[in-house]
Amino acid sequence: MVLACCQKNTGMSHQTAVKKEVFGTMPDGREVKIFTLANRNGLEARVTEYGAILVSVKTPDKSGKSADITLGYDTLDGWLTNTSYFGATVGRFGNRIKDGKFTLDGREYTLATNNDPGGIPCHLHGGVTGFDKVLWSGKPTDENGVEFTYLSKDGEEGYPGNLSVKVTYSLTDADELIWEATATTDAPTIVNIVHHTYWNLSGDLSASINDHVLTLNAPSYLPTDAGLIPTGEIATVAGTPMDFTTPQPIGVRVDDDFEALKHGGGYDHAWVLEKGTGVRLAARVKDPKTGRVMEVLTDQSAVQFYGGNFLDGTATGKGGVNYAHRTGLCLETEGFPDSPNKPSFPSPVLRPGETYRHVMIHRFSAE
Ligand code: GLA
Repeated sequence: MVLACCQKNTGMSHQTAVKKEVFGTMPDGREVKIFTLANRNGLEARVTEYGAILVSVKTPDKSGKSADITLGYDTLDGWLTNTSYFGATVGRFGNRIKDGKFTLDGREYTLATNNDPGGIPCHLHGGVTGFDKVLWSGKPTDENGVEFTYLSKDGEEGYPGNLSVKVTYSLTDADELIWEATATTDAPTIVNIVHHTYWNLSGDLSASINDHVLTLNAPSYLPTDAGLIPTGEIATVAGTPMDFTTPQPIGVRVDDDFEALKHGGGYDHAWVLEKGTGVRLAARVKDPKTGRVMEVLTDQSAVQFYGGNFLDGTATGKGGVNYAHRTGLCLETEGFPDSPNKPSFPSPVLRPGETYRHVMIHRFSAE
């Protein structure tokens, strides 16, 4: 059911429309909306109030054929079963925190240990009911976009401070999908809000991403222990299978006998981006078959490149596809994992009066 259609003049000759529809209802009966963004080049992105999730992205390949290039589900009921963070806005702290504990201003906080890679419990992606599993409030913006807001209450999932969060998605006629998160707090807290879409640029969501060619603008990465917690070392990628400073097919070295790859079961690490200021290029990925290219730009210090190693075919998604091992890849721009426990890492602390801001741009093309 189409609820509304918000016409907007974005230029002399072009009009865009954000379409708002009912997607379904939460188990407690609350209504969930879905919004469709489209641009003049035939790109389409759908986003929902549930988890501020990016539901789908349709882009043309080099022959003009359009396909959905994101893993996920066809219906809200499917999304409610999402345990892989497909498309999600993840928080309050995306990525891992060692032992689910951190100390802030002399007080220790205990968070859920909802993940245990290598059999070692840790806190992952905001906890049991993170930002990916709550209902946000969405409304169209003037920028061919949608703004989602959520108030994460003091104590929610163990985090201190009432955190007021805003996430916007905008689709430009330059084929950029812009995701931006901002947050303010009324008490000191930690913040690392992360966008977690799984991409498969082939548009065939049953195909491996190992033939995708990846470039990371990152001279170093964060080695981890067996529980995927950074050791604190910042290691050069030079001479290792972690070196994506030049374009490399993902699958060529993914199973190399290299400690980091053993711990991650493949690529699942934070790469430290080339130093710089403002929004800059972090990653470029290309599917050689369809010619689709996606560039990721950000203002953050790191990107977690996760190659879908935990996908095991048990989740049945769009069109009945079972998402098999390494059929989607994530490029999660962010601050450093476990930074609340690592004084040498950039601080994730947000204090009253400050504004957390994270910009992530996905730029699509085909060649
Ligand atoms: C992140 C992590 C992975 C995995 C996925 C979700 O990308 O780095 O280890 O937990 O989320 O399955």
